Amino acid sequence: MLLNSLLDRLDALAPAEDKGRLARRARAIRQRLEAANALRFEAIRVAIRRGEGRDALAAFAGDGEACRAGDAYDWRDELVAGVLPFGEPGEAAALPPEMVFYQPTPARHVFDLLDRLALDADDVLVDLGSGLGHVPLLTAICTPARGIGIEIEPAYVAAAHACAQALQLGNAQFVQGDARAADFAVGSVFYLYTPFTGSVLRSVLDALRCQAAHRSFRVCSFGPCTAVLAAEPWLAGEDAAASGRVAIFHTRR
Ligand SMILES: C[S@@+](CC[C@H](N)C(=O)[O-])C[C@H]1O[C@@H](n2cnc3c(N)ncnc32)[C@H](O)[C@@H]1O
Repeated sequence: MLLNSLLDRLDALAPAEDKGRLARRARAIRQRLEAANALRFEAIRVAIRRGEGRDALAAFAGDGEACRAGDAYDWRDELVAGVLPFGEPGEAAALPPEMVFYQPTPARHVFDLLDRLALDADDVLVDLGSGLGHVPLLTAICTPARGIGIEIEPAYVAAAHACAQALQLGNAQFVQGDARAADFAVGSVFYLYTPFTGSVLRSVLDALRCQAAHRSFRVCSFGPCTAVLAAEPWLAGEDAAASGRVAIFHTRR
């Protein structure tokens, strides 16, 4: 991405007689860097298949930099996109009103969340509206917990499932369906990156509230739906919902 924009700037700024030579050099450097990236991505995939994905990604996930607020993407998203073999997902159908189109949670927020959740082998993280499955996949790669994705779009579910199989991740599962019909009895952590709004969000929150009458769990959210969750009397915020990071709520009994 950075190199492409450098190539564009070079084209705009370099004197005409130097343009061809400089552009050729820049392209050669880009090819070498892309080849180095491809090797690194494959090495990380090999580590994931060996069950060592957490360590392989740790250098990038927890680089000591504070998790930057907001929904902009950065180099960690390129890393995750390079490592996770999604292939080309098929065409997604148009969604009904109140259901939000696919957009992945920025990878730094996923790493930050997994760090803060400190999941163990008994935990099950359910991503309600999981898209291509980054959150359940990274859960399965970086923690001992199980990651489950519920997603309405069949093409995304197929891509996520193929990725989990290619990486031999037995603890990442994907279910195609409407989140309103999910089995809410399964899950110690539920995650929502504003997958739906209005009455769809209301019915999912009502189903979670019913579960909360019987057992404790955490609900995490990113984006505008966080304000709705923060107003739910059966949820208590672990941290400031307006921090720009993923918010973590605990059920109240
Ligand atoms: C903003 S994306 C979030 C993707 C993913 N959770 C992530 O953070 O990377 C919202 C996703 O929810 C899905 N979605 C919308 N309405 C849904 C519903 N009623 N049931 C299941 N999935 C739904 C969309 O297809 C989309 O993939």
